[in-house]
Amino acid sequence: MNPPDPELLAAAKAAFANAYAPYSHFRVGAALRTPGGQVHAGANVENASYGLGRCAEQSAVQSMASSGGREFSAVLVYSEASPPASPCGACRQVLFEFAPEAQVTCVNHLGEVVEGQVKDFLPHGFRLEHGEG
Ligand code: THU
Repeated sequence: MNPPDPELLAAAKAAFANAYAPYSHFRVGAALRTPGGQVHAGANVENASYGLGRCAEQSAVQSMASSGGREFSAVLVYSEASPPASPCGACRQVLFEFAPEAQVTCVNHLGEVVEGQVKDFLPHGFRLEHGEG
């Protein structure tokens, strides 16, 4: 097990601090790095209409894709849960869309780590052949 990437950890913690979680009170921050070295972060953003809430991992992927990014090499998920929060099923599919090979590191305030590749977290993820769009 490698120590968490300090830059991704700092970005995920900063996003964690901005999480909007007034309903669950469960904050999550995520940060990912593109092959070009750019870091994109996201937090969970809940809604009074509960089903409209957005997970931290999805916020980070939306930020990357909205900036033109189409790939990432690593994603770090920070929470203050033990064991550390692991991407939900929907987030696994969203991560898989862009980076099945990326390294996932789930870490918490205690330094506990759960890690693996996206494709380990989501075996047999769904893909469609597509052109650039
Ligand atoms: N959540 C995330 O943001 N990422 C995860 O990996 C698990 C769950 C959020 C969704 C919701 O705002 C809160 O945590 C409780 O489920």
